[in-house]
Amino acid sequence: MVLFINKNTLASSLEAVQLEAGSGSVASYIPALQQADPAAFGCVVHYGREKVKAGDTDIYFTLQSISKVISLALALMDKGSEEVFSKVGMEPSGNPFHSIQTLEKEKPAKPLNPMINAGALVVADMLQEKEPDAAARRFVRLIREITSNPEIDICFETAASERNHSNLNRALCYFLKSHGVIENDVEQVLNTYINLCSVRVNSCDLARIGSVLGRDGQDPETGEQLIPAWTAEMVTTFMVTCGMYDASGSFAVKAGIPCKSGVSGALLGSLPDGTGIGVYSPPLDSHGNSAAGTRLLEKLSSDYQLSIF
Ligand code: DON
Repeated sequence: MVLFINKNTLASSLEAVQLEAGSGSVASYIPALQQADPAAFGCVVHYGREKVKAGDTDIYFTLQSISKVISLALALMDKGSEEVFSKVGMEPSGNPFHSIQTLEKEKPAKPLNPMINAGALVVADMLQEKEPDAAARRFVRLIREITSNPEIDICFETAASERNHSNLNRALCYFLKSHGVIENDVEQVLNTYINLCSVRVNSCDLARIGSVLGRDGQDPETGEQLIPAWTAEMVTTFMVTCGMYDASGSFAVKAGIPCKSGVSGALLGSLPDGTGIGVYSPPLDSHGNSAAGTRLLEKLSSDYQLSIF
């Protein structure tokens, strides 16, 4: 029997896991993220034509690492999978998202996957065009198309804040550049990466992205193919294997929902029946994933049998 989530049941699920937010803390290594309200908690489930909302769903936040799903899609669309995966791997890392250590072990400095920072920096390098801001403009255009929200844009305040506190990502970039994995100017690549991470959305937008990805790239209303089906399938596979970083395995067992997290406290869920889920709760667990958001998805999965497995 298929169980549908409705407004009331979603609100009570949120309430049931609300306390989990207290077990985490809001990201502070990017100062702008620290301004987030730790009590904010919202979720949207997008069934295609119908949306179910509960909690604080109008708040805007930045995509952060959720951008890696769409930047990978763009790179795959541009270059094809063979070229993309000649420079970035397909394996889960089992390490934190900003880890540098495996780059020294892999030859020639090939990041393990496109969801960790090193991998996403390589993807940002592949998206470079002549104009330094062309990649970010294309990214924003695609996100606007997918979400049907023409107001989505980069939050330049968050981007500036990250740029001033990016020494680890800068180090990853220089390491990759010195091994010839990154071809373009380091500051330009880093800038693109940061701008993509700083694109502002709300939970409704996220849920719609999840719905489009779950529908093999098709717009839930018009059926228009926004992303090629093979690309949508590939990026959602990475969401399962690497989307929650070194908690991807336990999340797959407990929730079984293809999912990508961002340090803003956002979670993007996407199911193969076209259901998209957007969650926002800023306090993070030790893996950098939204603490209450993760718990909420685990609960929704077990209450409504959402696991793909
Ligand atoms: O590069 C960073 O550290 C951030 N802009 C994004 C990291 C992130 O979202 C990790 N996800 N949970």
